[in-house]
Amino acid sequence: MSTLPIPGGTWTLGDLTVTRFGYGAMQLAGPGVMGPPADRDGALAVLREAVELGITHIDTAAAYGPRVTNQLIREALHPYPESLHIATKVGATRDEHGGWPPARRPDDLRRAVHENLETLGLDVLDLVNLRLGDARGPRPGSLAEPFETLAELQRQGLIRHLGVSNATAEQVAEARTIAPIVCVQNMYNLAHRHDDELIDELAGEGIAYVPFFPLGGFSPLQSSALSAVAGRLGATPMSVALAWLLQRSPNILLIAGTSSVTHLRENVAGAGLSLSDEDVAELDKIGR
Ligand SMILES: NC(=O)c1ccc[n+]([C@@H]2O[C@H](COP(=O)([O-])OP(=O)(O)OC[C@H]3O[C@@H](n4cnc5c(N)ncnc54)[C@H](OP(=O)(O)O)[C@@H]3O)[C@@H](O)[C@H]2O)c1
Repeated sequence: MSTLPIPGGTWTLGDLTVTRFGYGAMQLAGPGVMGPPADRDGALAVLREAVELGITHIDTAAAYGPRVTNQLIREALHPYPESLHIATKVGATRDEHGGWPPARRPDDLRRAVHENLETLGLDVLDLVNLRLGDARGPRPGSLAEPFETLAELQRQGLIRHLGVSNATAEQVAEARTIAPIVCVQNMYNLAHRHDDELIDELAGEGIAYVPFFPLGGFSPLQSSALSAVAGRLGATPMSVALAWLLQRSPNILLIAGTSSVTHLRENVAGAGLSLSDEDVAELDKIGR
């Protein structure tokens, strides 16, 4: 195990303790999140390094690749250390053009849960997020049927904990009337702060908020204010963006992605940066 401290400490997802600094595996599936990675050995090395560094939370989905990131995680890390918890998502599939059509009928969801179990080599999935909306973001509408299906699979013992992703605040509230949730995974970063209020509400309820695209995803965050703060602190903009998220609220968990061991180490080292009130005030202006 590395001597680099993992910034942010830990959070409890239901009965599972995870490092707030996790790892998002999506982009390991290569261009367009379709097919094998450009550098397969490199992808396996990143996953092994994440665990070696002490990270205990990995985010994936059978739709990535499809199945590619799950297979890589299994090859790199199975049998999994007891401390490692893998979160996955169901509710979208892939088409031949690399699109992400919804797959939220009861049969789709049962199939997806079994596909995740099989490709990850698990008997029980630690955390399953119901992915809602579409590539444009959350869309309103009831999640009752798909979420009840997942709650049933949870009662059958195939899923430990549930969450929702790409969800509106109303859908989060509706999910909680059906079954307890341990997290919400939505798009959020320095420049996209639509969920500010939701994050604070969830923090009060002990529910994690897991921002996807914490570094901007396919379009890396760029802002003169971010560069100015980073320059002043002698840090990279990526480090500042991650440190800001960790400082934003204790219920925020990071699942930043990278296909590079060097970037992974930089991110772990950089996210522990301490931002002053002045830094935060300057950064807060970016998304407001
Ligand atoms: N629920 C959903 O609908 C949903 C949607 C999208 C994503 N997700 C989840 O969210 C996770 C994070 O999203 P993401 O990986 O797409 O976006 P991200 O974490 O915002 O950014 C990843 C990008 O940042 C680059 N990067 C990372 N560290 C860097 C560094 N130190 N220096 C320079 N570049 C750096 C990576 O390039 P390199 O590979 O070159 O480092 C990669 O291109 C995914 O892995 C996935 O698990 C969920």
